Amino acid sequence: MSYDEVYQRSLSDPEGFWAEAAQAIHWDKPWDKVLDDSRPPFYRWFAGGMLNTCYNAVDRHVEAGRGDQIAIIHDSPVTQSQRKISYAELQDLVGRFAGVLTSLGVTKGDRVIVYMPMVPEAAIAMLACARIGAIHSVVFGGFSSRELATRIDDAKPKVMVAGSCGIEPSRVVHYKPLLDQAIDMAKHKPDHCVILRRPQEPGTMVEGRDVDWETAIASAQPQPCVSVAATDPLYILYTSGTTGIPKGVVRDNGGHAVAMTWSMKHLYAMQPGEVFWAASDVGWVVGHSYIVYAPLLYGCTTIIYEGKPVGTPDAGAFWRVISEHGVSVMFTAPTALRAIKRVDSKAEFLKQYDMSRYRALFLAGERCDPDTLTWAQDILQRPVIDHWWQTETGWGIAANLMGVEPLPVKAGSPTKAVPGYDVRILDDDGHVQDPGKIGRIMIKLPMPPGCLPTLWQNDDRFVDSYLSAEPGYYLTGDAGMKDEEGYLFIMSRIDDIINVAGHRLSTGGMEEVLASHPDVAECAVIGAADQLKGEVPVGLVVLKSGVDRPEEVIDRELVALVREKIGPVADFKKVVVVERLPKTRSGKILRGTMKRIADGQDFNMPATIDDPAILDEIEAKLQTIGYGHHA
Ligand code: COA
Ligand code: AMP
Repeated sequence: MSYDEVYQRSLSDPEGFWAEAAQAIHWDKPWDKVLDDSRPPFYRWFAGGMLNTCYNAVDRHVEAGRGDQIAIIHDSPVTQSQRKISYAELQDLVGRFAGVLTSLGVTKGDRVIVYMPMVPEAAIAMLACARIGAIHSVVFGGFSSRELATRIDDAKPKVMVAGSCGIEPSRVVHYKPLLDQAIDMAKHKPDHCVILRRPQEPGTMVEGRDVDWETAIASAQPQPCVSVAATDPLYILYTSGTTGIPKGVVRDNGGHAVAMTWSMKHLYAMQPGEVFWAASDVGWVVGHSYIVYAPLLYGCTTIIYEGKPVGTPDAGAFWRVISEHGVSVMFTAPTALRAIKRVDSKAEFLKQYDMSRYRALFLAGERCDPDTLTWAQDILQRPVIDHWWQTETGWGIAANLMGVEPLPVKAGSPTKAVPGYDVRILDDDGHVQDPGKIGRIMIKLPMPPGCLPTLWQNDDRFVDSYLSAEPGYYLTGDAGMKDEEGYLFIMSRIDDIINVAGHRLSTGGMEEVLASHPDVAECAVIGAADQLKGEVPVGLVVLKSGVDRPEEVIDRELVALVREKIGPVADFKKVVVVERLPKTRSGKILRGTMKRIADGQDFNMPATIDDPAILDEIEAKLQTIGYGHHA
């Protein structure tokens, strides 16, 4: 079938389409209704169905004869080690870790926070939760203890699972003290923490509360898979909202398992038994979907890579992993390619490796600039597929479906809507935009299986944030356009979210931190264009009158404060003190205008600006830190 036929069928007969896709999953009890649309704007897929995600991702494959196949390869240049875990071994480890959780009192519906580096135990902990119907919430290791504390208070975990440390090329990240501080800060206290004590820094244990992973798993009683409702939550993943309070995106079991499995075949054109590699982190949605769940649900081998694209040890690292482990399809963020290109623009390292089994490169997480796309196509001589998605959807919204009908690539476009997603561009009045015109990108409800059914215990925020802009539509938060042929172009966010090295961050959250500094009267954070990371945050602060401490001291304090409160991942390193911020006459800070100035772009003087002269000062100040120069 052609792309058009598949896409049209997914919209004209969604229930038939997804019921057919659901045949690829083992159900303990079939669903009563494919799509429960009795309570709009809340929609539930496979209502009444019962299944277990871990069974589908692990046990089922062992029963079908894949026990000896490698399920997980841990490739860790930062510790100079590798480990391979077969499906049979994974079943044993996950079953026993589920036993550890059960012995600590975790039962169906309880939350477990996982705060781990890129080690197989992160996936084992996630799958063990799924096995017993507990809900995991993985927190990215680059977040601070305060961010972790916010998530503890929202998810209220009974148990936390953490690594004692993470290893960045330049330093050991002290996870254990961060975990302890977060628990001190949080109002909710977990009963226990299971700590994977890594030799690089085993960390200090808290007696009575902390449990050693190795000791506990050695004597644990393996647990079977429990049946859960398709609509029960599998996990919560927090993502940046427009304030400092992150949103707890909920993922269900049934729709997720179906969407993940369908995508492996139709989007990535994978075959069970092949090796799939998403070079991301388990703390991000890409890691949940395409390091852990989708490859395992589909019976592939997945790679957990603990390293960087460059510097561990060189810019050939990605090609080494692909060649050494026989990767068929790899997925990463454009920023990783830009990092490689910067060091090895002629791709000399690539020549050392056998890439014969490698078929395609998928990119997501941020806009892929045409230069990077062309460079990757030239050096790899393989399809390079940009695809667009977000934490909320959990899988591609727009892509070039390699397993259906590969379409011609248009640089700068993630191609067309994925089946199940009715993507429309609406203008400010809610009318569908003409082709080629920019508007808000919306998805007509219901969204396909796999997308968030709600925010964790916060239906109201779910409706307010996503469903109230236009009745009957999900607001993606991105602006863009469709061309005459239906190709989508994703241009920018319409909120204050920025994308730094493929990491999604809230400038509002950073502003809250800057504003908490005693010398700061007001502030703004903008995402300035960056050749490597896409965007980087730049702070502009106005000091309280009477503050006469040196600006560079305050700047350093502000940089340190954001690192402490949000974490190194915010990559907040640039800040300038200004006399005033440009505002409209009604007092709205003109962040968009400042961003254009920072990027050296022309801008129209906003008609409502209260004092145009301020913009010259802003430009001059930004130039002192390397921004605001016309190309
Ligand atoms: N735990 C603790 N700290 C972490 C971390 C983790 N898991 N991951 C990153 N950090 C820290 C880094 O050490 C760095 O700290 P520093 O300010 O002390 O140097 C900071 O967070 C920023 O990290 P990053 O944005 O990764 O920058 P980098 O300079 O270390 O690396 C790239 C640049 C391009 C190589 C890197 O960003 C990259 O590989 N990006 C791929 C993006 C990606 O996988 N995105 C996921 C969505 S698909
Ligand atoms: P996250 O939730 O962290 O995956 O970030 C999602 C956001 O990243 C989207 O809303 C977009 O703004 C951006 N994004 C992700 N993939 C792409 C892409 N292929 N092209 C343009 N922007 C993207």
